[in-house]
Amino acid sequence: ASETPEHDVIVIGGGPGGYVAAIKAAQAGLKTACIEKRGALGGTCLNVGCIPSKSLLNNSHIYHQILHDVKNRGIDVEGVKLNLTQMMKAKETSVTGLTKGIEYLFKKNGVEYIKGTATLTGEHEIKVNPLDGGSPETYNAKNIIIATGSEATPFPGLEIDEQRIITSTGAIALTEVPKKMIVIGGGIIGLEMGSVWSRLGSDVTVVEYLGAIGGPGMDADMAKTMQKILSKQGMKFKLNTKVMGGDINTDSIAINVEAAKGGKQETLGADVVLVAIGRRPYTTGLGLENVGVETDERGRIIIDQEYRTKIPHIRVIGDVTFGAMLAHKAEEEGIAAVEYISKGYGHVNYGAIPSVMYTHPEAAWVGLTEQEVKATGKDYNIGSFPFSANSRAKTNLDTEGMVKFITDKETDRILGIHIIGPNAGEMIAEGVLALEYGASAEDIARTSHAHPTLSEAFKEAAMAAFSKPIHA
Ligand code: FAD
Ligand code: NAI
Repeated sequence: ASETPEHDVIVIGGGPGGYVAAIKAAQAGLKTACIEKRGALGGTCLNVGCIPSKSLLNNSHIYHQILHDVKNRGIDVEGVKLNLTQMMKAKETSVTGLTKGIEYLFKKNGVEYIKGTATLTGEHEIKVNPLDGGSPETYNAKNIIIATGSEATPFPGLEIDEQRIITSTGAIALTEVPKKMIVIGGGIIGLEMGSVWSRLGSDVTVVEYLGAIGGPGMDADMAKTMQKILSKQGMKFKLNTKVMGGDINTDSIAINVEAAKGGKQETLGADVVLVAIGRRPYTTGLGLENVGVETDERGRIIIDQEYRTKIPHIRVIGDVTFGAMLAHKAEEEGIAAVEYISKGYGHVNYGAIPSVMYTHPEAAWVGLTEQEVKATGKDYNIGSFPFSANSRAKTNLDTEGMVKFITDKETDRILGIHIIGPNAGEMIAEGVLALEYGASAEDIARTSHAHPTLSEAFKEAAMAAFSKPIHA
């Protein structure tokens, strides 16, 4: 192994956490390298997560809309056919464009891109096994940032082959539409990928252990509304149901389920089973044990508030440590961790990280759920406004969903905002800003929103929390 000159910062992992940290560090004038083993930058998010799933969600929505929702708009179409190969190509074009874009940003900012698998071999030392198979190289760094991300949690007894028993990685790459798909887990991946294949013609059943869909963090009202909407679109749900195991035969898969209460058993048949029961931190081969960096019982690397492990110059960000597994959360941490290194201070407001589920309509939220507010014992107001009373939504014939504000009864300060509706993912940005600035519902209610826009529903929900809406 040869030795290279010392870097100020070496980032392990080129996902949203790692690549943002690397660019930020280089911008701060630090000699920076980023080590990535997958052969492309962008991590889970760009390669097999956020981006490919959103491409398929967008294009499957257009297909579904052409089949079911254009006649009433005065558009007659005939001979509509799905070309799945082309839909996958469109997805790949978006992915490669964006991953190459990060390579360009690395060059522009002077980040060294090292292609290989990194293992910690000392407190300042990293061994890299190059992707091209050459002999290992050793790198030295004053500071190390670990951003190795996460992987799908497997379901015991159902071996993943990414063709018939799949994770989200298989679900963004199927070569035919399955006749029947079972989704284990009604969280965000289950509902997004379930929507894609349901729109393309698959008979999709979601089996969820809990009594509500949406995964952790979704407000109960929103989860109920979303389930109604997705059921109308053709998805089937089995809530409060445990998957016990499955039999994989040559021509079909049998999944055995049991009611969580009462124990009633049933067997469901499928061609493809999507395992979407959560993700877990990924540290395989990283060599944490070589330097004594510790993980908790769920495999998350333990850090303090400045992202430091017990070796202070080794910091950790993104999915591999605590908190929501979201790309924008990883990015914020990447910036903050570098600011701690370069300036000695940094900040992420964890109370104002938005969540978005990109179904149609979208679901988006920030801050506390009503259940969480209730648990604090605080008195609160609810203001909600349905899109069915919003002029733009009515004009667009796209009126499902609502905006819900939860505010402190005494101070009117916004505690949480929950939206189901067209473009909710964009609309929530206003809510995030409101939370960041400690806004009250009155602040929003007195702010002019252009007419006719969907955002007027946002304003009117704030009016409903603060006094009364005009249009409902
Ligand atoms: P990752 O993106 O996982 O990147 C880690 C990188 O480190 C990987 O590329 C890996 O190859 C590399 N690596 C690991 N070990 C080593 C090593 N020893 N040496 C070198 N390299 C290594 N989040 C959103 O906010 N919005 C979405 O719409 C969204 N959609 C998603 C859809 C799906 C299907 C999935 C699976 C996830 C989605 N997520 C979404 C979550 C998002 O992808 C993650 O939160 C985000 O990628 C985390 O970023 P990260 O940098 O922590 O890790
Ligand atoms: P999740 O945690 O969102 O949902 C998993 C669901 O599976 C939960 O509802 C859970 O109760 C259920 N479950 C767990 N074990 C089960 C079992 N044995 N049987 C039946 N149900 C079971 O996890 P998911 O959907 O896998 O996504 C992982 C993470 O990826 C998300 O938490 C999110 O952080 C990220 N992601 C974000 C997206 C976005 O921001 N739009 C899109 C996709 C993923």
